[in-house]
Amino acid sequence: MQSSSSSTKILKIVEGSENRKPVKFFIKEIPKNRYEDAADHMCTYFLADEAICKSTNVKDDPVAVKDFRSLFLYVLEGGLSVAAFVENPEDGKSTIAGLNILYRGGKEKDLEFQEFTNNFKSEKAKRILKVVSDTAAEVDAEKIYGTENYLGGLGLSVDPSFRGNGIGYHLLLARNEIGRKNGLVITITVFTSPISAKIADQAGFTILCEKLRDELVDEKGEILVPNCQSESFKCMGKRLE
Ligand SMILES: CC(C)(COP(=O)(O)OP(=O)(O)OC[C@H]1O[C@@H](n2cnc3c(N)ncnc32)[C@H](O)[C@@H]1OP(=O)(O)O)[C@@H](O)C(=O)NCCC(=O)NCCS
Repeated sequence: MQSSSSSTKILKIVEGSENRKPVKFFIKEIPKNRYEDAADHMCTYFLADEAICKSTNVKDDPVAVKDFRSLFLYVLEGGLSVAAFVENPEDGKSTIAGLNILYRGGKEKDLEFQEFTNNFKSEKAKRILKVVSDTAAEVDAEKIYGTENYLGGLGLSVDPSFRGNGIGYHLLLARNEIGRKNGLVITITVFTSPISAKIADQAGFTILCEKLRDELVDEKGEILVPNCQSESFKCMGKRLE
């Protein structure tokens, strides 16, 4: 029998393909013994491909990668994150095809995050997170939804070889179950690319606040991420089902 740290309940099975071969994706909460693998995935694929990280070339900056890795692990420890796993009959260890790092957000938690990221060594990493926090700054969950506690997302990512299977969409839908299980009735997240915002829209999110890339500036008035391909960032939310 597998221990609870190595197996979690299947939330959904999604049928897809890889190199034209059929593949089954098992959407599950990420068990504790896969947190390091989840952080590896994020450092390999998310930091390389997410629009803001890509524009600042974070993946080639070891100090920034170390900061982000510590943040991913810190949030994963909260135990709410979900992934799409592919069984691997050869070595028995499933592959993480995609994941979404999730956390319980709220006024207290936001301050905790701030404290954690204030200790980042990399100014680049701090700048990237400022884009996200500035985009969400004016969103008042209490006012919109009547509760300040929400299920937040920090990085939706799919391994390039498994993209095109709607995994991102199914990971966003899995938030319904995670919210129910953890007493959270709303979800709020900043989406940084037109693709991820489109998926969020399909999953029932609506735009709560949108910021243009060129209006997000530092204390000197300089654009935070001038080379980012995304021209705007969207803070989106929905009531969980
Ligand atoms: C965002 C991401 C998770 C989506 O992966 P996925 O779930 O495999 O998404 P899919 O490839 O199935 O595409 C989803 C939709 O976007 C569309 N899409 C995909 N790539 C696109 C592109 N380059 N341009 C325009 N539309 C695109 C697809 O056509 C699909 O739309 P449809 O459902 O109407 O057909 C993945 O691209 C990724 O990991 N990106 C890097 C990290 C990132 O940016 N994360 C989001 C940060 S908020």
